[in-house]
Amino acid sequence: MKTCILQNGRLSPAFETVLATEFDLCPLWQEPDPSAFLAQHGEKYVGLVTSGPVGASAALISALPSLQIICSRGVGHEKIDVKAAQSRGILVSNTPGVLTDCVADLAFGALLSVGRGICAADRFVRRGDWQHQRFSLTVRVSGKKLGIVGMGGVGRAIARRAAGFDMEVRYNSRRMVPEVTHDFEASLTKLAHWADFLVVSAPGGPDTRHLISAEVLAALGGKGFLVNVSRGTLVDEQVLVQALATGMISGAALDVFEDEPCVPEALLAMENVVLLPHIASGTKETFQAMEALVLENLRSFFSIGRLLTPIF
Ligand code: 8YV
Repeated sequence: MKTCILQNGRLSPAFETVLATEFDLCPLWQEPDPSAFLAQHGEKYVGLVTSGPVGASAALISALPSLQIICSRGVGHEKIDVKAAQSRGILVSNTPGVLTDCVADLAFGALLSVGRGICAADRFVRRGDWQHQRFSLTVRVSGKKLGIVGMGGVGRAIARRAAGFDMEVRYNSRRMVPEVTHDFEASLTKLAHWADFLVVSAPGGPDTRHLISAEVLAALGGKGFLVNVSRGTLVDEQVLVQALATGMISGAALDVFEDEPCVPEALLAMENVVLLPHIASGTKETFQAMEALVLENLRSFFSIGRLLTPIF
């Protein structure tokens, strides 16, 4: 008898095949009436696999009376109702670490792109504008001041990359991180005021909602650029659109948005904004590694009753 696992949302087809080989896998997203299906069959599922952007709601968790574990692909878990899981003694795992380098690479690529206008210059050439004008000068990145919001694994990887650009780094986080040698700035507004580039890599969720406020953007100022590779909810998006439209800040590179995949219309026409479809961890290598870690968490739990990367 294979262990019954419910799949919430799509994963990579190759990984779905692996899971279906080892477990009795049910892709809930294929069910025409998921609620009716869960009402009839919910009690047979002891495991749930999902991903960061999809998560697991309290309603779904309560429809699975036999559920013991939730294994999520991705590091962010704000879309999993952790309280509902904990109240039932359900364990939850994510896939930290294996995506850190790709997220940090993308953060730096986005920073370079908005600072040096790489995407805008590409559009300039494709439009044929180079035939009759020069592309405007942009700003230097090397040697500039980088403020990092959130000094977890991704924040530290971004700081390492900044060294390669001779950038001075300071950071703001829930608390100072002893092993980090960069200066800690307890005030996010002061950090923004100091920084030329402000990169957001803190976790999503209610505690960090609209951390990047009007006050922080005003402090970042007309010379400053914002880069967000964490969650759209950390930035007050309406305020950001205003700040960009009025020149309160110089530009922004955004891989995440408050209501993905919807992007504020006003941003689409802005040349000083880099817009990306939540691809920070989106490499073949990282998805394979994240999914391998999901599988290892499942195997570990069903063999020795322990998750490898539990979130609590
Ligand atoms: C997504 C992410 O999970 O890890 C996260 O928190 O946002 C991404 O890695 C990935 O795009 C899909 O699982």
